[in-house]
Amino acid sequence: MKYLTLFTLVVVILISCTKKVGKNPELAYSDRAILDSINASGFTYYKNDPNTFLPGTNGPHGPYKLRFNKIGYNALTDNGKLPAGMSMPNGSLIVKDIYDGNNNITYYAFMYKRSGSWIWGEIKPNKEVLYSVYKNPSTCINCHSQTGHRDLVTTFYFH
Ligand code: HEC
Repeated sequence: MKYLTLFTLVVVILISCTKKVGKNPELAYSDRAILDSINASGFTYYKNDPNTFLPGTNGPHGPYKLRFNKIGYNALTDNGKLPAGMSMPNGSLIVKDIYDGNNNITYYAFMYKRSGSWIWGEIKPNKEVLYSVYKNPSTCINCHSQTGHRDLVTTFYFH
């Protein structure tokens, strides 16, 4: 009986620790938590230009706009880019709004810097997860390691 109580307690603690919804991805970097951050305010578009669509012809994602949260944007000190050889700081969130050719966002691809490495994912505005943060991101990383990337961000090379 004592063990059953202890077991129940441990299960309850484990469940509350792995709760998947939260506002702060530093605490819980679930797909949904990052979507909440994507929908939050405080982003600045690449080169401070919210209007231009970048063609996206160099990658698999499609026409896009790129935006950075405040922590990320503050690191872009080389004419709006991350200086070569530097790393984006922890807490940086880069969101690629991918469009359908009209003015509708089909999905977000994102990179979130946590404990020195990027967390990668893709999610639709309606919360449908296309590429979970829990999946092995090696396909993302392999392609993003291409010539000219800066801390695995390839837009700094192409645009
Ligand atoms: C085949 C190559 C390739 C793969 C695979 C790939 N990407 Fe990309 N990605 C690119 C390129 C190239 C760009 C920038 C220019 C463009 O889209 O034309 C880009 C841009 C991005 C950006 C904007 C920041 C940046 O690096 O410019 C994000 C965020 C992103 N990708 C996320 C992902 C995620 C998440 C995955 C894996 C699920 C992924 N990408 C897989 C090639 C790739």
